[in-house]
Amino acid sequence: MKIAVLPGDGIGPEVTAQALKVLDVFAREGTPIEFEHGLIGGCAYDESGHPLPDSTFKLAREADAILFGAEGGFQYETLSRGLRPGDALLSIRRELNLFANFRPVVTWPELVGASPLKAERLEGLDLMILRELTGDLYFGEPRGVTSENGVRVGINTMRYDENEIRRIAHVAFRTARTRRARVCSVDKANVLESMELWREVVEEVGQEYPDVTLEHLYVDAAAMSLLRSPQHFDVLLTGNLFGDILSDEASMLTGSIGMLPSASIGDGTKGLYEPVHGCAPDIAGKDVANPLASILSAAMMLRMSFDMHSGADRIERAVRRVLASGYRTADIAEPGTKLVGTAQMGDLVVAALS
Ligand code: IPM
Ligand code: MG
Repeated sequence: MKIAVLPGDGIGPEVTAQALKVLDVFAREGTPIEFEHGLIGGCAYDESGHPLPDSTFKLAREADAILFGAEGGFQYETLSRGLRPGDALLSIRRELNLFANFRPVVTWPELVGASPLKAERLEGLDLMILRELTGDLYFGEPRGVTSENGVRVGINTMRYDENEIRRIAHVAFRTARTRRARVCSVDKANVLESMELWREVVEEVGQEYPDVTLEHLYVDAAAMSLLRSPQHFDVLLTGNLFGDILSDEASMLTGSIGMLPSASIGDGTKGLYEPVHGCAPDIAGKDVANPLASILSAAMMLRMSFDMHSGADRIERAVRRVLASGYRTADIAEPGTKLVGTAQMGDLVVAALS
């Protein structure tokens, strides 16, 4: 099992280090895991002049799974496109065809009080945002800033072909079958033609899954329902942009975006695993970031790339135990809980594993 470890920038390295501690427990127990580290994002740009050096891309391409941290930083925001840290991540997703992005949103009972929502709306909450990851406005052409009669014009294109919609829809229905057999597809079919096609194709694919209940919501209504009745959702199927926005919103149901892991996969079992949060430069290097999203991403890796379901369950149980014992990083701390730093949280999960 070859894992490409790409910690990146900001809090990426410190949270990834905790996930590695956890995976290392499995390595020491005899699971044949090999780690290979690479530079990505701003640190790679500083070192080599490109956020995704060839050597890093090769490492990612040849690995069975990729553990990614975060990338970015204020100093890189004015670089030209293609050289910005975020472009490296987008290239990997696109070049490796990792089109299906799973973002499980689960309310841990211990963290109900850390969410701004009322407790009764959160009980038993367990939904899966399935976000299409290689199409839409993120990659559609034409794009760019041009000038028309001396007036600057910014252009991006929302584009989906039916094959792209069909393949992500199949993933949604298959995923729903392993859960509560409900898919809610999110679009903006009332205004956008590309989303009209989205709805039509999802509806067609749905015919093949009569045992799964399909409903459609416009994205504005979906944003509202996520706060009003989040327990209603099982699999929330979205395009790239809407999924990006709704997943940050949904993170508040768990108390913190520091609790949200993700997996991005394609046709095979190879996957990229990363916390949903970004590089958080304001708290980087201070040992205060929450490493649980990264640790839970490692659990998703064991389950989805390596078919190690009991190993994944074991990590999630360990996290549960640590939270039940009252330990919290700053983002999820409440009165009466025990505040710990990034590294100590990692150590606690490792201790709870055995
Ligand atoms: C995410 C992030 C990325 C995205 C950025 C860093 C390019 O916000 O994974 O949600 O927009 O997809
Ligand atoms: Mg995002």
